Amino acid sequence: MLKKYHFILLILVLGFTACIRNDKKPGREYMPDMSAHIAYEAGSDNPFFKDGKTNQLAPDGSMARGKYIYPLSDTDYEKSASLITNPFQFTSDEINNEGKHLYKVNCAICHGDKGDGQGHLVQINKFPPPPSYLTEPLLSLPDGKRYHTVMYGKGLMGSYASQLNHKERWLVLSYVKKNLQGISTPAPATTATATDSTKTN
Ligand code: HEC
Repeated sequence: MLKKYHFILLILVLGFTACIRNDKKPGREYMPDMSAHIAYEAGSDNPFFKDGKTNQLAPDGSMARGKYIYPLSDTDYEKSASLITNPFQFTSDEINNEGKHLYKVNCAICHGDKGDGQGHLVQINKFPPPPSYLTEPLLSLPDGKRYHTVMYGKGLMGSYASQLNHKERWLVLSYVKKNLQGISTPAPATTATATDSTKTN
């Protein structure tokens, strides 16, 4: 009887003293791996993944927040005319400053400062002249086709999808249309089917 009583007392004493909070004496930890896990360095081997690497690619179809998804493939040039419209309303300042800068940096070397297709590369005979923006058919080229060309390229012109994000593409195209072609853009159609975002490409 006495022994049983001692045993219960021991359990109680241990129970009440085991969890005394004292940062200096953390006490014993049972299976520490449960709380302090092994952190793998980004570039280190990792036995938990099939390819043995810690750095894993994002799963297929995942997308950065706010990223613009262009709904058409590279063969949908014709469709782009009716499906893609400019979702932005840029101020003249934005077009005259950033838009012009983007044009000078990325496009003028072929299309020319004035858009007549006489850029520096053409002048020095390194590139055949691109069609002039100042005459047909480019004067009345639908916005969607312009955007599609900047996304995927066309003929000798390469894609600018990786150099310019969604907003920059429309900004540079707005500069071409407003400042070089002298066409004032009507308010954007509300029927745009594209998912638009102002944050990233
Ligand atoms: C390396 C030279 C080069 C550069 C740089 C270049 N383009 Fe072009 N661009 C061309 C050529 C060549 C064409 C004619 C393509 C065709 O119709 O085969 C063209 C055509 C176009 C068209 C008409 C597309 C159509 O659908 O008919 C637009 C709009 C255009 N470019 C915009 C731009 C913009 C905006 C930039 C800068 C972001 C740019 N280009 C940079 C060579 C260039």
